[in-house]
Amino acid sequence: MTAGSGSAGAVPAVDVHSVGRVFAGRRGASVIALDGVSLTVAPGEFVSLIGPSGCGKSTLLRLIADLDVPTSGNIRVFGKPARQARIDQDYGIAFQQAGLLPWRTVAGNIELPLELHGVDRAGRRARGAELIDLVGLSEFAGHYPDQLSGGMQQRVAIARSLAERPSLLLMDEPFGALDEMTRERMQNELVRICAETAAAVVFVTHSIPEAVFLSNRVVVMSPRPGRIRSIVPVGLGDVTTRGEGLREDADFFRSLSTVRDLLHADEHGDPSGDDRPGPGLPRGVETR
Ligand SMILES: Nc1ncnc2c1ncn2[C@@H]1O[C@H](COP(=O)(O)OP(=O)(O)O)[C@@H](O)[C@H]1O
Ligand SMILES: [Mg+2]
Repeated sequence: MTAGSGSAGAVPAVDVHSVGRVFAGRRGASVIALDGVSLTVAPGEFVSLIGPSGCGKSTLLRLIADLDVPTSGNIRVFGKPARQARIDQDYGIAFQQAGLLPWRTVAGNIELPLELHGVDRAGRRARGAELIDLVGLSEFAGHYPDQLSGGMQQRVAIARSLAERPSLLLMDEPFGALDEMTRERMQNELVRICAETAAAVVFVTHSIPEAVFLSNRVVVMSPRPGRIRSIVPVGLGDVTTRGEGLREDADFFRSLSTVRDLLHADEHGDPSGDDRPGPGLPRGVETR
C-alpha cells in the first residue's frame, strides 16, 4: 500500500492502481474492458499504450482524464484524484477526433484554452501564432475547420492541447489520420515539445515504430479482459536527445522486434507466425 504523498521522489504524473472497468453489454452480458491495470508514469516520462483494437487503451486514457470512472481501483494524477486534476486542468488532451468548434477559426480554436483562462489578447495571439507555426498551419490561421482536411484538423487539436504547456498530455492516436510524412514530422515535434516542456505523456497508438520512437516505456496490452501484458523499457536514451537518426538505429529496430513479438504472442499465442515481418522491416510499417 502506498501513500499518495510521494515523499521519497517526485509525485507521479499518473498513478493507476488496480483499475478495472466493466461495461454493461447487450442482454445483460458485461464487457471487462480493463482488469487489474496498474501503471505509474513519472513526471516527464513518455509512455505509450499499444495493443490490438478493443484491448482497452482508449478506456484507460479516458479514465485517467476523468471522462469515465473506474469500476474498481483508483487513479491519481499528480497526487490528486483524477476528478480534481481535471477540474484543475493539469493536462492537455488530444483524441482521435479533433473536436474543434466549427464556428471558430484555426487561431480561435487554438487560443480557446488561453481565452478561458484569462490570458490577455496579446498573449493569446503570440502563443497562438507560435503553435500554428509549430503544426505547420500558418497559412490557414483564418480558416474554419470545415475548410481543412482531417489531418489538418487533427494538427489544430494537437496545437490546442499544447496551448497551456501542460505537464501531462493524454493523446489517443492523435496522428492516426495523418499521412506518413506529416506523422513523422509531428512525432519529431512532439519529442521536441516534450524536451522543452518536460511534460509527461500517455500516448495511445497502434503503430509500433511510433511507440518505440517516442517512448521511454511501451505498455503492451492484451484484450478480453484488457490487461497489461508487458511493459517494455525502450533503451534509446533520453527522449529529449532523440533525433531523426534514431529511426535508422539498430537499437531502435531491436525494440521494434521486442514489442512486435509481444503483440504477436497476444494475437496468435505464437510469435513465429508466417506474417511476421523480417528484420529488414522498412520504416513506418505497422504490424497489427
Ligand atoms: N461506453 C462503452 N460501453 C460499452 N462498451 C464499451 C464502451 N467503451 C468501450 N467499450 C468496450 O470496451 C472494450 C475496450 O474498448 P476501447 O478502450 O475503446 O479499446 P481500444 O481503444 O483499445 O481499441 C471494447 O470491447 C469496447 O467495445
Ligand atoms: Mg481506442
